[in-house]
Amino acid sequence: MRKRIRFSDDWYFCPHQVTAGEDGQFERVHLPHSNYILPYHNFDEKVYQFTSTYRKRFTLPYPQNGGRIFLDFDGAMMAATIILNEQEFPEHRGGYVPFSLDITDYVVDGENELIVLLDSSERKDIPPYGYVVDYLSFGGIYRDVWLRYTPAIYLDNVFITTENVLDSEANIKVGVRVHNQSTDTQPVIIETIIRTSDGQEIARFSSQPLELTTQTQQEVELKSPVTGFALWTLDEPNLYTAEIIIKRDGEAVDRIEERFGFREAAFKEDGFYLNGEKIYLRGLNRHQTYPYIGSAAPERLQKRDADIIKYDLGCNIVRTSHYPQSPYFLDRCDEIGLLVFEEIPGWQHVGDEGWQALALRDLQVMIERDRNRPAIVLWGVRINESLDNDEFYEKTNALARKLDPTRQTGGVRFFQQSNFLEDVFTFNDFSNGVESPLHRPHLITEFAGHMYPTKTWDNEDRVLEHALLHTRVHNQAMATEGVSGAIGWCAFDYNTHKEFGSGDKICYHGVMDIFRLPKFAAYFYSSQISPEERIVLQAATYWTNGDRSGGGNDPLVIFSNCDEIEVYIGERLIGKFEPDRTRYPNLAHPPFTVEGLGMRWGDAYDDLRVIGYYQGNKVAEQQIDASNTPHTLKLWCDDTQLYADGCDMTRVAFQVVDKYGNRLPYAHTLVELSLEGYGELIGENPFVLVGGQGAVYLKAGETSGIVHITAKARGLPEAKVSVTLITP
Ligand code: GAL
Repeated sequence: MRKRIRFSDDWYFCPHQVTAGEDGQFERVHLPHSNYILPYHNFDEKVYQFTSTYRKRFTLPYPQNGGRIFLDFDGAMMAATIILNEQEFPEHRGGYVPFSLDITDYVVDGENELIVLLDSSERKDIPPYGYVVDYLSFGGIYRDVWLRYTPAIYLDNVFITTENVLDSEANIKVGVRVHNQSTDTQPVIIETIIRTSDGQEIARFSSQPLELTTQTQQEVELKSPVTGFALWTLDEPNLYTAEIIIKRDGEAVDRIEERFGFREAAFKEDGFYLNGEKIYLRGLNRHQTYPYIGSAAPERLQKRDADIIKYDLGCNIVRTSHYPQSPYFLDRCDEIGLLVFEEIPGWQHVGDEGWQALALRDLQVMIERDRNRPAIVLWGVRINESLDNDEFYEKTNALARKLDPTRQTGGVRFFQQSNFLEDVFTFNDFSNGVESPLHRPHLITEFAGHMYPTKTWDNEDRVLEHALLHTRVHNQAMATEGVSGAIGWCAFDYNTHKEFGSGDKICYHGVMDIFRLPKFAAYFYSSQISPEERIVLQAATYWTNGDRSGGGNDPLVIFSNCDEIEVYIGERLIGKFEPDRTRYPNLAHPPFTVEGLGMRWGDAYDDLRVIGYYQGNKVAEQQIDASNTPHTLKLWCDDTQLYADGCDMTRVAFQVVDKYGNRLPYAHTLVELSLEGYGELIGENPFVLVGGQGAVYLKAGETSGIVHITAKARGLPEAKVSVTLITP
């Protein structure tokens, strides 16, 4: 029967190309793997652009039993030549999509040698390269690898669609490809069982008997009415599984499971509808890159990003700019109810015929990989912000519609006069306001970004204005007819090329920094969360008298979902305030604007205290120390437990804070970290705080136990945190 084995452990890595006969200096590694551990900024991107060699020697964990064996790569950056027992496969070009090799005929019973020669350079023949690109692709086998056993008669390429889920006549269709690699023609039937996530069966149906000719494949489609399901919604993202079984003489020969959800998603002229309900889309763009490790983030970090975007930032949509992202990230989007706009790799440049063929291949692989995910509501079929190229984009649209007639297409451009070949006009609006749509349905797919790069240690005026830019655009987009929503640029600061960054190879465009720590803009997003879910209250100030141009603190802006606040300076009540509905009438939770504080540069100064009320009850309080004195070195890990598998990771973050716990943005303190136990810190150590904060990653070792981390900074008590490593 079918087996899928994670094949990511015990690889050997050499940072150059090892030719036959040469031994090379190999290091034992586990995947996901980055071919070069970088500083978080100020590096030359050429350092990871080389060809490396990955080697894995293995004996087959199970006998072949007349079936097929595949090697499935979730992603290797950028071009991979695979050699198995001296059999060389054609180079796989493209680092953002998965690929599979049928290795059945090349594996042997004893020891096998698998070699991956991985070219991680910016190859002009492969999307996104050919011209300049505003992000880095990094290098390495940065996603998992799997060994897949199937019988000789097997299933793949499942496509589950649902119809009329909002009325009583709902249907489910299951498409599947059936392969017969056996030597005979086979009489089979296909059966499907639909189950809830806790295993309860809600439907079962079968195909007519089929004759499968030897050495062929056939597309089969089954359809059945279905009742008794719960919809996939943003608050209750109910997931189901379809188990598809191929039977010969009543016996199961192969079975495959696929997850999906029942939901209806549509962009219409007047906005976006999920299950018939109109929803304003408030989102952010996400790059899949991280400090130090590039793109090689393990499952836990991938999932955590989805959680940050949904729960910390209160977004309901994310755009996977500018390429298909990790299956783990997308799994989590399905699980938590975070909508996704997924697009093909590329950035402004369209290459020659060969390049375009790869882009079409990317599109096909992306859709076939992800079309059962309820979270995905739109396919991006254009190269981000490229000029019109009707011939090419007619092809991408036709291909997407053929592979998935249930989802609309979009294609991101930066000018509204562009030919509208897609179903949704997806537009990067950098007007710092909202352009009135020329085409509908219309979705803003980027704004802010390079119009207002902002660092966590910028002056208060700038960090505040950055937050207000996001606030204003959403406020305006919500009231602009025909606009379905706005996806800001972007969630997290990211490493980039010199043509784009702030000189240290970072684009400071995130509402969070590269370590996923918030700027004020992050609190605009989180303040839009319902107060029933979580109370948010953050004064967007460092509460100094001389940081803003001209001095003082006017106006004081507070991001909160409370319905009333009280502001005190010292013991003096400044007043009670309501959300600023005059400036931001369309937001569910406008920020509070407190004007006329009357404090000027040089005036005597006292602590700030803001109290938040919701439905008449005090629910939150924030105080800021007017003396801004470093009080505590705060240290925390996002997880208390990790798997002792040699690749699991969690973020270790630290901040210098005042006596009330507020970050001190100008504490550029040196922090020294030390670790005891079976683990490794990945990142800069010692670390000079950036905007009063920073982070590294803890990578688990391979022995269970407790890891203790200590952080020291001059003049502050040392901080400790521990993480338990458990057996996977
Ligand atoms: C857009 C582009 C993004 C990013 C952004 C910065 O033009 O699509 O990738 O570069 O600008 O604002």
